[in-house]
Amino acid sequence: MNERKKLTVSAFRKMKAEKHPAVMVTAYDSFTAAFAEKAGIDLILVGDSVGMAQMGYSSTVPVTMDDMIHHCKCVRRGAPNTFLVGDMPFASYAFPEQAVKNACRFIQEAGCDCVKLEGGKETASVIAKLVETGIPVMAHIGLRPQQVNVLGGYKIQGKTPEAAERLLEDADAVQAAGAFSVVLECIPADLADIVTKRLQISTIGIGAGIHCDGQVQVVNDILGLGLDFLPKHAKRYARIGEEMIRAFEDYASEVREGTFPGLENSH
Ligand code: KIV
Repeated sequence: MNERKKLTVSAFRKMKAEKHPAVMVTAYDSFTAAFAEKAGIDLILVGDSVGMAQMGYSSTVPVTMDDMIHHCKCVRRGAPNTFLVGDMPFASYAFPEQAVKNACRFIQEAGCDCVKLEGGKETASVIAKLVETGIPVMAHIGLRPQQVNVLGGYKIQGKTPEAAERLLEDADAVQAAGAFSVVLECIPADLADIVTKRLQISTIGIGAGIHCDGQVQVVNDILGLGLDFLPKHAKRYARIGEEMIRAFEDYASEVREGTFPGLENSH
């Protein structure tokens, strides 16, 4: 087991200052988390993307607090030495008191190091309350998948001058509220560059170009574990899904042909 020292919230400021990119990936189970830790990934996000990546839902909206706590516990067991981000699911942080109660579950029950929540200006009071309680917060602005039913789909954000201005206001607001980092999802690379230079806290991009202080990717996308669709902002570093199908087919053929189990697999 890799015994490296886990990052702390203050390390992210240092990494930003030293232009040392933070690498984050999602994970939802213990052995994927263990592999990510072994590979030296800086942060693991148990995203509410678990709804689509593992639970078979068509959006993140149905994911509950109990689902998130279950997956965070699995990931924490697999990666005890990696900074762990727990994603607050849909409608779990509508009010500051509710947000504190639910965020405490991520920290106390599941062993997360911080929580992440979607929203800009309108979530500033919630972020401030969590930070005041002692819970580090990673904000998430730009495309907010939990808003899919309001937005009418997953669209690039911040494209017009007015939308870019609103995004800058959101970035300022989450920083002022005390977030230590902010995810920028699906915004133009130039805008992400402006945000990254403007903020003291680190920006972690997904679909936000090269200028962010770090990057996050959904594990199914980079490992080739999904179905055919690959978002433009993702890159496939492996084709594990194809390899799984091949292995299942080979196993099924050998059982059907009577060549498995062989003598070497028998007692
Ligand atoms: O749920 C998730 O995986 C996320 C990332 C896309 C940032 O929020």
